[in-house]
Amino acid sequence: MNTRNSKSLAVVRNSSEEEVRKARILCFAGSTREASFNRRLAQAAARAVEEAGGEATLMDLRDHPLPLYDGDLEASAGLPLGVRPLKELFKSHDGLFVVSPEYNGSMSAVLKNTLDWVSRPAGEEAGTVPYAGKVAALAAASPGALGGLRGLVHLRAVLQSVGALVLSEQLALGNAATAFTDEGRLTDERMQQMLDKTAARLVDVALRLRD
Ligand SMILES: Cc1cc2nc3c(=O)[nH]c(=O)nc-3n(C[C@H](O)[C@H](O)[C@H](O)COP(=O)(O)O)c2cc1C
Repeated sequence: MNTRNSKSLAVVRNSSEEEVRKARILCFAGSTREASFNRRLAQAAARAVEEAGGEATLMDLRDHPLPLYDGDLEASAGLPLGVRPLKELFKSHDGLFVVSPEYNGSMSAVLKNTLDWVSRPAGEEAGTVPYAGKVAALAAASPGALGGLRGLVHLRAVLQSVGALVLSEQLALGNAATAFTDEGRLTDERMQQMLDKTAARLVDVALRLRD
C-alpha cells in the first residue's frame, strides 16, 4: 500500500513497506528568559508534533549563545564556534517550529541574530542550505491580547527569504500568563486544537517535502 498520499501520513514507508524514520521537527523559542511564555509554547508545540507522529527536538537558544552578527568579525575570524553545530542541527531536521516573542511589533533580537548567523555560508556551502527544502510553522505568545501576531509577519518574511516554506497555519497565544495548564497544555481548547492542527500539518508537509 502506498501511504504517501494518506492525509494523516506520519511515517513514510518505502517500496518494500519497511518503516523509515519519522519527520524530524526542530522546535525552539526566540526567548532566553527563564520563565519564557514562548519557551512553554515551544514545549507544547513539541508535544503536539510528537502526538502528530513526528519526532520533535526541543532546542533552547540559551544552549547556543552567539555574538551579535558583525561582518568584520566574520571576515576576520570566520563563523563563530557555535554556528556550524547549529547549522548541522537545522540540516538534520525536516522542519522547524519557531515560536517567537513580539518585541515592538517584530521578532526578538536573539532569534533574528540566530537565524542570520545560520544563514551565513560555511566554506563552499551556500548559507541557505540549512533552510532549503524545509517547512516551518510559526507561533507566538504574549501577555497582551494579540498574542504577538504582528511579529509573525516579520518572522514569516525572514524564513521565506532564506528558502523555507512557511505554513499558513499559525498560532498567536494572547494572555499568556493564564494560557497554560500545569501540565503544559493550552487552557483554551480552541487554541490547543489550533496548535494540534498546525503541528499535524507541519509533520505531514515535512514528510512530503522529504520525498
Ligand atoms: C523590548 C520589548 C518590546 C515588547 N514589545 C511587545 C509587543 O510589541 N507586543 C507584545 O505583545 N508584547 C511586547 N512585549 C512584551 C513581551 O511580549 C513579553 O515580555 C513576553 O513575556 C516576552 O516573551 P517571553 O515570555 O517568551 O520571554 C515587549 C517586551 C519587550 C522587552
